[in-house]
Amino acid sequence: MTEKPILVTGGAGFIGSNFVLSWIGRKGSPVLNLDKLTYAGNLGNLAGLKNNPGHLFIKGDIGDRALVRELLDRHRPRAVVNFAAESHVDRSIHGPEDFIQTNVNGTFHLLQESRAYWEKLAGNEKNTFRFLHISTDEVYGSLGPGDAPFTESTPYAPNSPYSASKAASDHLVRAFHHTYGFPALTSNCSNNYGPYQFPEKLIPLVIMNALNRKPLPVYGDGLNVRDWLYVEDHCEALRTVLAKGKPGEVYNIGGRNERKNMDVVRAICSLLDELRPLSSTDNYASLITFIKDRPGHDRRYAIDARKIERELGWKPAESFETGIRKTVQWYLDNMNWVANVASGEYQKWLDTNYTNRGTA
Ligand code: NAD
Ligand code: TYD
Repeated sequence: MTEKPILVTGGAGFIGSNFVLSWIGRKGSPVLNLDKLTYAGNLGNLAGLKNNPGHLFIKGDIGDRALVRELLDRHRPRAVVNFAAESHVDRSIHGPEDFIQTNVNGTFHLLQESRAYWEKLAGNEKNTFRFLHISTDEVYGSLGPGDAPFTESTPYAPNSPYSASKAASDHLVRAFHHTYGFPALTSNCSNNYGPYQFPEKLIPLVIMNALNRKPLPVYGDGLNVRDWLYVEDHCEALRTVLAKGKPGEVYNIGGRNERKNMDVVRAICSLLDELRPLSSTDNYASLITFIKDRPGHDRRYAIDARKIERELGWKPAESFETGIRKTVQWYLDNMNWVANVASGEYQKWLDTNYTNRGTA
């Protein structure tokens, strides 16, 4: 690679693969893609990059210090973009250990090696190096119905093992900037949706279950609120932060698309009624089933994204209505991808999370 690459971690997951695809599609610099290929990592997401000299995939762990050191020293990236994480709240409830291992220890080791690499750089290379840490709005905890959306100065109040582990990693990133002057930036984004999302999360799970005429499981009363952002809008925000963000700063990213879970599920059902009708008398909403709530379920998330809009000039391109239509259409057009991820491991997860849960 002659042009300086960027090192992307977790680039075989949902957001990471969307980021890598659009980065390379826009003729960005080459990408080193370090991913452990956990259940959530899928090389099928990157099939479009086969034989592309601008993409080098390395199977490995962000916590493997020797591997990370070797990659940094050999390829001399100009930035590290850290997506790698255990990312599913329900899984963190059933088994928090992996979340501490990757999100806390893994991020720490990645930071240590990236700092050691950065300290050896000189001149312009050192001045322009960036470490972008991708985080979540869930670190801020849960909002009441009338509360103002999260800003960058909202105190951290994580409620799940997932959000607690992400909060810990955010604090490490902050401390590395404050203590060592390491040029790190953090972005805290709201719920993403779009192509290549593993069907354990609400939107792809509902699409997939609906197409298989299975119950559409809604936790509790279905009135929890999430602030949805189409994944490509998130990727564009990250490119903007990388290019124009100020080291040490935090940027909240969100689409001003607060929706109750029930409304999200109903929107998917009506799109499927239109695009893949069942019969003249039946509709997908008849599959909606209320089940026992998630323990400690956060009620509402909402992002105030005015800082990134004002300071860096980013704005989302999709509304929830345009984004969800594209997403449902993508799943309909990519049933092979869906069939490939719905493997034995996935069926085991469905049994763990949904069997014997009872109704709400
Ligand atoms: P994902 O679970 O789809 O992908 C995570 C990827 O990281 C997978 O490819 C996995 O194989 C890889 N990975 C896991 N542990 C690893 C390790 N130790 N070393 C190397 N690779 C490892 O997650 P996602 O939804 O794409 O989320 C990406 C990032 O964005 C995460 O940090 C998440 O916290 C954050 N985020 C996600 C959302 C969302 O709605 N999905 C919203 C805000 C922030
Ligand atoms: P999810 O996609 O897991 O994201 P997060 O928990 O990180 O917000 O869930 C989104 C919302 O949908 C959340 O309030 C939980 C709810 N949910 C269901 O009602 N049923 C489901 O089967 C799943 C997976 C989630």
